[in-house]
Amino acid sequence: SGVHNYTYILKETNFTRLCSTKSMLTVNGQFPGPVLRVQKGDTAFVTVQNNGKYGVTIHWHGVKQPRNPWSDGPENITQCPIKPGKKFTYEVVFSDEEGTLWWHAHSDWSRATVHGAIVISPKNGTSYPFPKPYAEEVIILAEWFKGDVKELIDEATASGADPDPSDSYTLNGQPGYPNNCSIETTFRFPVQYGKTYLLRLVNAGMNEEMFFGIAKHNITVVAQDAAYIKPITTSYIMITPGQTMDILVTANQAPSYYYIAASPFFDSSAPYDTTNTSAILQYTGNYTIPTTIPYPTLPNVTDKAAADNFTTRIRSLASAEHPVYVPKNVTTRIFITVSVNQIVCANASCGGPSGNRLSASLNNISFVTPSTDVLQAYYKSLPNVFDKDFPNLPPYKFNFTGDVGNNTLYPSLGTKAKLINYGDVVEIVYQGTNVGNAENHPMHLHGFSFYLVGTGYGNFGLTNSTKTYNLIDPPEVNTIGVPKNGWAAIRFVANNPGVWFMHCHLERHASWGMDTVLIVKNGPTKETSIRPTPS
Ligand code: C2O
Ligand code: CU
Repeated sequence: SGVHNYTYILKETNFTRLCSTKSMLTVNGQFPGPVLRVQKGDTAFVTVQNNGKYGVTIHWHGVKQPRNPWSDGPENITQCPIKPGKKFTYEVVFSDEEGTLWWHAHSDWSRATVHGAIVISPKNGTSYPFPKPYAEEVIILAEWFKGDVKELIDEATASGADPDPSDSYTLNGQPGYPNNCSIETTFRFPVQYGKTYLLRLVNAGMNEEMFFGIAKHNITVVAQDAAYIKPITTSYIMITPGQTMDILVTANQAPSYYYIAASPFFDSSAPYDTTNTSAILQYTGNYTIPTTIPYPTLPNVTDKAAADNFTTRIRSLASAEHPVYVPKNVTTRIFITVSVNQIVCANASCGGPSGNRLSASLNNISFVTPSTDVLQAYYKSLPNVFDKDFPNLPPYKFNFTGDVGNNTLYPSLGTKAKLINYGDVVEIVYQGTNVGNAENHPMHLHGFSFYLVGTGYGNFGLTNSTKTYNLIDPPEVNTIGVPKNGWAAIRFVANNPGVWFMHCHLERHASWGMDTVLIVKNGPTKETSIRPTPS
């Protein structure tokens, strides 16, 4: 397997969008950042040199990093921040992932500008489980903030309120039509009539689930989170923050210009970015440029049925070359309630002013990021960094679906990890709740991909809900949408010893405490234990 060396220089760079210029943190001066290209099974050494103003880390989202939490990246979970003027070399170990993943900063909100795609091609001598596309392109969905993102989040933290939403969504760094003063720089994707293209789509957005489509063109989704799925042909998709999807599009319409567009999917009273973003699918050849470029019809912002109609179609490919191994005999079932709520601050030590501040929690614990990283504390048995008593609640400990409101249920603050034995067959049931502002939560787990065996609305019920499970060809993913006031169940074998962060991929919620840490203990041998500390 191949070995690659990359250098990422973190530095402030000026960018102009929506008619205003700001300095922002970038990798190698690029936004979006560079594409990390590897083949399945390769290893990439990425040296990150921090020439920026504050400490940052980088995470390789969806890369399992077998036994190698040292290079996983979340700040103060597996490493301390790379200080300005310092560097750190990540050893990014690819095992069975194939398709599209992404990398992003994992320190406060810095991932807004510090992110890029990871493209993992099939090994030599193997090929895609679909006809080879004529060409490929990465498409990154993100959010643009006119102001400085660090100031924005610092202000929100100081006030205890919701941070301001972004000013525009972007496709490959460009707001596009219909955002003022960015029409000229709209991202263009040239296509030849009759050819099929592979688009590698990443939702790097901070806080929004998105609908995405291309005017007059059907798209065929062939992979999600770097695992192949049974092809789905559709006019739109819904992609949640953290997720990646590989889609095929055939240029089979009259040669012209067509908008590629994305719009938010959101059903809550919290403030959100109401704009749309677009790029242009541009046929090559001679034709008259249309005065009105066709725009895709995307579902309405609150159209839950449209989102579900798409997501519930996703099934693993489950072919001979790409088999699935859905674990059957669960040894450890963990229930996790997922809620947005409030916390009472007696003083500034809880990260807000005195009085109530918005918070978020898992099993009613609002996560507090420690100042020493959990991995080091675990590995060296350092006291007072984290506790090992993340609660394992039975279902219905709280009647979360009873719409109890913000003010009757307060989480407690804590840095609590859940310990799991090596080899345990784990099922996690996430129960979305109706406390505070109910909304969907894209839950992400580091160190694993897992099978989404079931999902539904209302309360999870051990007898009724488990009957609906798909144990044949469920999607194998690293991020799942826990539905508003509903549940989602995932399964995996705990075969990757390490310290693995688990959190909502909406940055508002992650920074309010919707996080915890899973620690998979060492197995009996060296090969089933965390690799030694890198020197
Ligand atoms: Cu993409 Cu911990 O995140
Ligand atoms: Cu969330």
